[in-house]
Amino acid sequence: MKPPERIGYDGEPARTQRAQELMNERQSVLAANDPIISVRNVTAGYGDEIIIRDISFDVFAGEIFSILGRSGCGKTTLFKVMTGLLEPVEGAVVIDGEEIRAGESAQTGSVLKKVGVTFQSGALFTSMTLAENAAFPLRLHTRLPADTIERIVKLKLSEVGLEGFEELLPAELSGGMRKRAALARAMALDPKILFFDEPFAGLDPVTSATLDETILKINRSLGTTMVIVTHELASILRTADRVIMLDREEKGIIAQGSPQELRDKSDDPRVRDFFNRSASGPDSNEKSP
Ligand SMILES: Nc1ncnc2c1ncn2[C@@H]1O[C@H](COP(=O)(O)OP(=O)(O)OP(=O)(O)O)[C@@H](O)[C@H]1O
Ligand SMILES: [Mg+2]
Repeated sequence: MKPPERIGYDGEPARTQRAQELMNERQSVLAANDPIISVRNVTAGYGDEIIIRDISFDVFAGEIFSILGRSGCGKTTLFKVMTGLLEPVEGAVVIDGEEIRAGESAQTGSVLKKVGVTFQSGALFTSMTLAENAAFPLRLHTRLPADTIERIVKLKLSEVGLEGFEELLPAELSGGMRKRAALARAMALDPKILFFDEPFAGLDPVTSATLDETILKINRSLGTTMVIVTHELASILRTADRVIMLDREEKGIIAQGSPQELRDKSDDPRVRDFFNRSASGPDSNEKSP
């Protein structure tokens, strides 16, 4: 695998004024787009237990949008509602003008055909090669001939930097390569929106940075909207245009904005804590010299 061109985690804090201006410009352009996802007054939980209450927000087309918060605050729960895996107790999620219905599979649900999902647990098919894994959605949802599928699979794997690894099994790959393969599979049907739950979990900082670059490249070149659940601060700062932060006690959103705004300007101690704890936690020695 080629090393990323730029892996320094100190790149973000040292962001130049010009780079910051470009980010601000990008944010105002994106905010002029129509929302591609609208989460409307969603309350959700398991059995009698409410985990998130009355959550509303929009994601604009072309954005990289992150859902943050400490473990157990309900990120995956919200993710499941947004991808149709969990029915909300109240409220609705509208994707590209259509309300999604929980339980609707990608086969029957036309809305869900527009999205690609990678789950927290990863889940490649262990007995299939990378090429077979990436081809799976195409075989399931299209009637494309085998050679066309093969071409698309090659392209998708090369988009995530896995060209030449087509015939390997997941067990023969590193954790980072598996994450990329899952991304290639999620991209197989050219989704308008990609959802990731903890794409960086378990990856070393350099591999995470490589995945950041891949995510940015796909977003910038294809305009794919991305919703990323994560608590990897470095990746959030490098990739996300906007974030929301959830809190377990509040059962809702306690902050939203650009990650830089939250890091530098929030006076909520829970938000400051999240950004500072992560910045000065066990990972801090991974900063570039
Ligand atoms: N299937 C389930 N049944 C019952 N309770 C659940 C279920 N899944 C999650 N929970 C509970 O909901 C709460 C929120 O869990 P969730 O997985 O949404 O958190 P999270 O923010 O994704 O955490 P992490 O960062 O550890 O992935 C937790 O208290 C969890 O125990
Ligand atoms: Mg989770």
